[in-house]
Amino acid sequence: MKKLLMTAVTASFLFSASASAMEAPAKSVTCVGCHGATGNSMVPNFPNLAGQHATYLEKQLKDFRDGFRKNATMAPFVKGLTDKEITDLAAFYAAQTAK
Ligand code: HEC
Repeated sequence: MKKLLMTAVTASFLFSASASAMEAPAKSVTCVGCHGATGNSMVPNFPNLAGQHATYLEKQLKDFRDGFRKNATMAPFVKGLTDKEITDLAAFYAAQTAK
């Protein structure tokens, strides 16, 4: 897990510059390592977020945060996100193109 986290953090610095058109929300730097800079994940275990409906993404993030959807990998990254940050993240990934 530690190694995965380091990879996520390192990757977020490498890829954060290449996000497209809509400016990536500040909080998305922690998501990049797993979900890719534009929500197109490079690892099959991590779901693609690009082009997914914003309403769906928003609901999943709130469900993870509030404990209705349980996943040990995601939990630490949504903990403490505000509703506004979640809305911004959802809008950002929804606006990306699925590859
Ligand atoms: C360490 C890797 C990792 C990081 C970092 C991470 N995620 Fe995830 N994410 C996952 C995994 C694994 C799943 C699938 C969870 C499951 O099986 O329920 C997931 C699921 C999701 C889902 C649900 C997708 C769906 O189709 O239902 C959303 C939305 C999401 N992540 C957004 C984010 C956001 C936004 C961030 C940053 C704040 C983030 N993730 C950070 C690994 C990660």
